[in-house]
Order: sequence, then structure tokens, then C-alpha cells
Amino acid sequence: MNDREFVSAAVLGATGYVGRELIRLLAGHPRIRIAAASSEGAAGTPLRALVPSAPAITLQRAEEVPLGECQVAFVCLPHGEAAAWSERAYAAGAMVVDLSQDLRVAAARPEWAEQAGYGLPELHRERIREARLVANPGCYPTAALLALAPLLRRGLVAGPVIIDAASGVTGAGRTPRADLLFAEVAENFLAYAVGNTHRHLAEMRDQAGALGGGAEPELVFTPHLLPVRRGILETIYVPLGERLAEPAAPWREDYEGEPFVEVLETRLPTLQDVVGTNRVAVGVREVDGVSTPLLIVVAAIDNLLKGAAGQAVQNLNLMSGWPETEGLL
Ligand SMILES: NC(=O)c1ccc[n+]([C@@H]2O[C@H](COP(=O)([O-])OP(=O)(O)OC[C@H]3O[C@@H](n4cnc5c(N)ncnc54)[C@H](OP(=O)(O)O)[C@@H]3O)[C@@H](O)[C@H]2O)c1
Repeated sequence: MNDREFVSAAVLGATGYVGRELIRLLAGHPRIRIAAASSEGAAGTPLRALVPSAPAITLQRAEEVPLGECQVAFVCLPHGEAAAWSERAYAAGAMVVDLSQDLRVAAARPEWAEQAGYGLPELHRERIREARLVANPGCYPTAALLALAPLLRRGLVAGPVIIDAASGVTGAGRTPRADLLFAEVAENFLAYAVGNTHRHLAEMRDQAGALGGGAEPELVFTPHLLPVRRGILETIYVPLGERLAEPAAPWREDYEGEPFVEVLETRLPTLQDVVGTNRVAVGVREVDGVSTPLLIVVAAIDNLLKGAAGQAVQNLNLMSGWPETEGLL
């Protein structure tokens, strides 16, 4: 390929955990040239100081990034900051993948509901192919929605769904916080945002409702902080109206041929199955000794890949008409 055949990309928020992972993926993507990368605190320093495989460009403040000269912008900024930059990039003519939560819930962003697709390819592939602006899903919702979709689509959920989720510490971002110090986190394990207070719930309810034909299922979502760098494991308890003859069949049928979904039959997923990959691994078990039929679905992803940067590249591949797995295998 000569230089004109590459798509030029800007990454806003390149120094964050997500931005850095994205730079690493884009530097190895055969159709992308990283043209600009932003940081407020590290502006003026070489991008290669962050990611050695990156091109020899210098980090710029977001204001200085020539968005009009980029064909795609990845917006990896904190929520609350991201939407305005996504709007600017979109108005400048770039395709946009917004990795924050700002544009994910249609009711919270009515002015963008027409343009923005929800970027969960396994559920919305055709819509994403048409979109020029995609809201990349949250890490916890990615695992939960892919785990629950086969049951929700079939109308099989018969009561409140309990999602117990544990995430590695990169899920909280790079901004220093006392409760995320090594001495607080190491050899510890704790629940947080207990009582349905986590900000990802609106997105999960919104998407789960659409999958179930409009009625939002009741969700009880409890995240936990796991003392590892990356990875999410969710254990999801689903009451059913009746027992399933073959519990794993809905997942096998729905995800047959999906390059980034692995349905495990002989054992349940672990973080080691997925960390460093763009895959979600899912496993299903029936629960013995309870009066209501109950399934447990376990799902694992890498929060920085399928939960963020990898999924963003998967979305760009779809938006650009490229093979969906390009740069991700
Ligand atoms: N971490 C995850 O697992 C994960 C998963 C899915 C989605 N997300 C979402 O992805 C986004 C990035 O997450 P992250 O974990 O990478 O966060 P992070 O580590 O805190 O990084 C934030 C980035 O944004 C830049 N930034 C901060 N405030 C800014 C401002 N006011 N204007 C311009 N740039 C600013 C920072 O640059 P400097 O500090 O260098 O100036 C840094 O590059 C967030 O919206 C997050 O919710 C994160």
C-alpha cells in the first residue's frame, strides 16, 4: 500500500490505559496510519515513549489535533469530556468511535440518537456498518450483554437477573486515587457501587430492554475490584420460566461463526482465557437444589480489549468495510 491508501487516525486521550492499548493495536493495523495523538499533561513528548511500536510523532493537546485532516477519530477521554470532542471530530468530517459512556444511552443523547450506533458488533453488526459515529460499549456491559442476549432474545428470563462482576484495576483509569494504591488493592477484594449505583447500569438496562423486545429486565449489578491489572469476570444468575433441555444451545446457535465469542462447553471461562485477546468467553451451568429453574452464565473479557480498544478497532473495521478481524488476531 502507498501512503494514500492508509486511513489516518487520531487518538484523543492517548496516554490513558485505553488510549495506549489502542495506539498499540493501531500501530500494528495494516490499513491505519496514526496521524495524531493527544494528551494534556504529556503534550510535547514523543508518542514512542508510551508505545515503542508507534510512529515517530509528538503528543499534542487535544485543541491542536487537526481533526479535519483525520479520517477517523478515537475518543478515549473521561466521560463528560468525550462527547464534545466526538461532536467536533464528527463535524470536521471524521468517522468517530467514542469509547466513553457519553453517547451510549439513546435517551440521554436524543440529538445523537439518529447518528450514533451502539458498537457491540455481535448484536448490531449491520447498523454499525452504516454508522459514521459509534458509541463503544462499556466494559462491564459488553460481557453482560453478550452473556445475556441469547436468553433475552428468546424471552426466557423470568425474574431479576443478578450480575456479580469483578474487574482488574486498569478498569478505573490512570488518574491517581488513594483507594487504588498498590497497598490498598493488592491481596484484597471488595465490592463497590453496591445497591445498583454503578454508572453502567443505564446502558445495560437500555440494551437489555431492546434485546427483550422493550421490557427492561430487572438487573442487580454488583461490581468488585480484583487485584489484577486487567480482565473482567462476570457471574450472572438468571431465573428461568422452565428448565432448558440443553442449557448451552442458545449460545452455540447465536454465536456460531463469531470470531470473537468462544462458548466453552466442558469448563467455565477464566481471565487467562481472554486477557490479551479481543474475545469474550462464555460458559453456562444449571443450578441444582433450587425450586426456581436457575442458570448461571459466566463471561470473561479483557476490559482494555473486548471491553474497549479491541472492540473499537472491530467497530472501525465494520464502519470501513474491512474484514472485521483485521489487526485483532
Ligand atoms: N479503563 C477501562 O477499562 C475502560 C473500558 C471501557 C471504556 N473506558 C472509557 O474509556 C475512556 C478512557 O478511559 P481510561 O481508563 O483510558 O482513562 P484514563 O486512563 O484516565 O485516561 C484518560 C485520558 O484522557 C486524557 N484527559 C483527561 N482529562 C482530559 C481533558 N479534560 N481534556 C482532554 N484530555 C483529557 C488523559 O490525558 P493526560 O492525563 O495525559 O493529560 C488521558 O490520556 C473513559 O471514558 C472510560 O470510561 C475505559
